[in-house]
Amino acid sequence: MTLKVGIVGVGGIGSRHAQVYKENPNVEIVAVCDIIEKKAKAAAEKFGGRPFTSVKDMLASGIQLDLCSVATKGVENGGDHYVPTMELLEAGIPVLGEKPISNNIDEAIKMVEAAKSRKIPYAIDLNHRFTPAALKAKQWIEAGRLGTLHMINMRMWINNPAESSPWFHMRALHPHSFDVIRYFCGDVTKVAAFMMKGEGRTIWSNAQIILQFANGAIGNLVGSYDAGKSYGLEQCEVVGSKGRFVLVDACEHLTFYPRDSIETETYSYLGGMRSFSETFKSRIDAMVDQMAAKTPYTEIDGSAEDALKAQTIIEAAIRSFETGTVVEL
Ligand SMILES: NC(=O)c1ccc[n+]([C@@H]2O[C@H](COP(=O)([O-])OP(=O)(O)OC[C@H]3O[C@@H](n4cnc5c(N)ncnc54)[C@H](O)[C@@H]3O)[C@@H](O)[C@H]2O)c1
Repeated sequence: MTLKVGIVGVGGIGSRHAQVYKENPNVEIVAVCDIIEKKAKAAAEKFGGRPFTSVKDMLASGIQLDLCSVATKGVENGGDHYVPTMELLEAGIPVLGEKPISNNIDEAIKMVEAAKSRKIPYAIDLNHRFTPAALKAKQWIEAGRLGTLHMINMRMWINNPAESSPWFHMRALHPHSFDVIRYFCGDVTKVAAFMMKGEGRTIWSNAQIILQFANGAIGNLVGSYDAGKSYGLEQCEVVGSKGRFVLVDACEHLTFYPRDSIETETYSYLGGMRSFSETFKSRIDAMVDQMAAKTPYTEIDGSAEDALKAQTIIEAAIRSFETGTVVEL
């Protein structure tokens, strides 16, 4: 069965979604939609499908849509997602949205509820967890190779000089970090945060966040928008009673260090995945596969509910920093 797909918001990231769909033999792009007509028309020419300048018009056209990506942007990179996503969900159309699910937690809750009440698949492009290396690390945890989980050290550093709201760095970057953290260690119960403004900046561009997990593990996130070019994008170390792993740059290098031996096991470029940019393909293809397999809406990987939980941790971190307290979730 060919999945009929639309893309709403065909800027840089929406175009990446479109390219992945175009390369997937099980997908037909039937619609591209952008409020800027020139962009919609250019995307239709490049990727196929009918161009539209609003979700309302796209829905009114009666075109069949089995799945729609929403890659709009807005305030804190997520302020524009709500309106088109709600229009699609209310019309019964499954959505693969971009992160953050929203910069506004109340709107995120409403979108998740809208999908749930209609039993519609709604997922987010939480692409950092959709890599062969992350999957292998997850399998190690599930097979008990690390033993009891003790700690996670997560680092996510990129260089983003953009200045907008004080919480731009937290809300726009760390949906990824907290999703990876939850993927490996489960739900977070307590959050304590410290932040600082990098030199010359007006936003909280550096953060150290301490976490307690429901399973008793503890951990931290070191995040920054002030990284230099020589810094890795991301490093995730998960430590257990029997061993630990280090996952570098989402997909590039994964090493297991047993606790009782000096012998290590390292994989580089698992599944042939070379760099972060390739994670869009593995994430979007996974969604297509789950849709084609008619996966129940409750079992979609990287769900909007996962994204909402990550965003809830972010808001708890902001509250913790503002109040100087440990915030319970
Ligand atoms: N998953 C990732 O790794 C990753 C990486 C970078 C960016 N992102 C996310 O991708 C999203 C898009 O980022 P971008 O850099 O492509 O933004 P962009 O500004 O280049 O593109 C957004 C597009 O959406 C259009 N648009 C806005 N409102 C619309 C509406 N209601 N209907 C139709 N079109 C509308 C705009 O005209 C624009 O063309 C952001 O949420 C960002 O956080 C995700």
